[in-house]
Amino acid sequence: MTDPYLPRLAEVVENRVEIPEIHTLALRLLDGAAQPYHFACGQFNMLCLPGVGEIPISVMDKEGELILHTVKGVGRVSRALIAQPPGSRIGLRGPFGSSWPLELAKGRDLLFITAGLGCAPVVGAIRQVIARRADYGRLVILQGVKHSNDLLWEPQYQAWRQLPDTQVLLAASEEQPPGPDWTFGMVTVLLEKAHFDKQRCLAMLCGPEAMLIAAMRALQCRGIAPEHCFLSLERNMQCGLGLCGHCQMGPHFLCKEGPIFPYPKLTGWLENRGY
Ligand SMILES: Cc1cc2nc3c(=O)[nH]c(=O)nc-3n(C[C@H](O)[C@H](O)[C@H](O)COP(=O)(O)OP(=O)(O)OC[C@H]3O[C@@H](n4cnc5c(N)ncnc54)[C@H](O)[C@@H]3O)c2cc1C
Ligand code: FES
Repeated sequence: MTDPYLPRLAEVVENRVEIPEIHTLALRLLDGAAQPYHFACGQFNMLCLPGVGEIPISVMDKEGELILHTVKGVGRVSRALIAQPPGSRIGLRGPFGSSWPLELAKGRDLLFITAGLGCAPVVGAIRQVIARRADYGRLVILQGVKHSNDLLWEPQYQAWRQLPDTQVLLAASEEQPPGPDWTFGMVTVLLEKAHFDKQRCLAMLCGPEAMLIAAMRALQCRGIAPEHCFLSLERNMQCGLGLCGHCQMGPHFLCKEGPIFPYPKLTGWLENRGY
């Protein structure tokens, strides 16, 4: 059995600048032919740079043998990761954690609510839904950013907007955004414009915790059942294996039971500052 603490070596095949400080790294596992890598949408990997550190990063998607991660440089490890040129090697452990409930979502209208870099962990799930379109109801994608030029993958959002039975709404909170495709405000204002069947929808949310709390309030006001809302959370992580306790939130280990939780499991913990 492979040691789960032992990183596998991966080569940076491409380092694409999305916007300043946010890069997408396309990684190829050096032992990928012998040990193919499979992940479920929403899971994360621990990416490490020897002598620098190791951090959890969601798998954005997989294209052929390339594993894609979109990383924002915020501190020591993330800044060092986005500075890696093509050809350099990094360590990868994973995938870890729970995934978006795409089986449970079958037959339902889907609501993806994301803000900032919270859009990255849902890309694979949205692509999977589009590839199996007949299995799902309406697809509603809501994304919030501070400024319209913070939006990653605008052509991707435009392409999704053209699909049948799909609604894509964008919000910018800190400036009057350009054009009719945008709304001024937080991502939650978009819920007023979203068309979906509240009795048979399933919501998937990812973004800063304040946004998750506000969006959950708005969803509950619209009568969406809490058990049909799934949230992806972030905490400091070390082992990724449910052993060290760094990621604990009350009784939950985010690395193992999460990062994606059905909302009822988080009631009383999410709103509790300090956890
Ligand atoms: C399951 C999971 C998935 C993630 N997916 C992604 C992803 O796809 N892309 C991405 O860029 N980041 C992602 N993150 C966040 C990423 O792990 C942190 O930004 C990273 O650990 C910061 O480490 P650092 O050494 O660069 O910064 P540090 O030096 O540790 O911290 C720099 C600053 O960032 C703050 N910070 C650290 N960790 C977080 C965090 N988790 N959330 C918010 N602020 C934080 C610190 O308080 C500090 O102010 C994810 C986190 C988790 C738990
Ligand atoms: S990161 Fe160690 S228990 Fe979750």
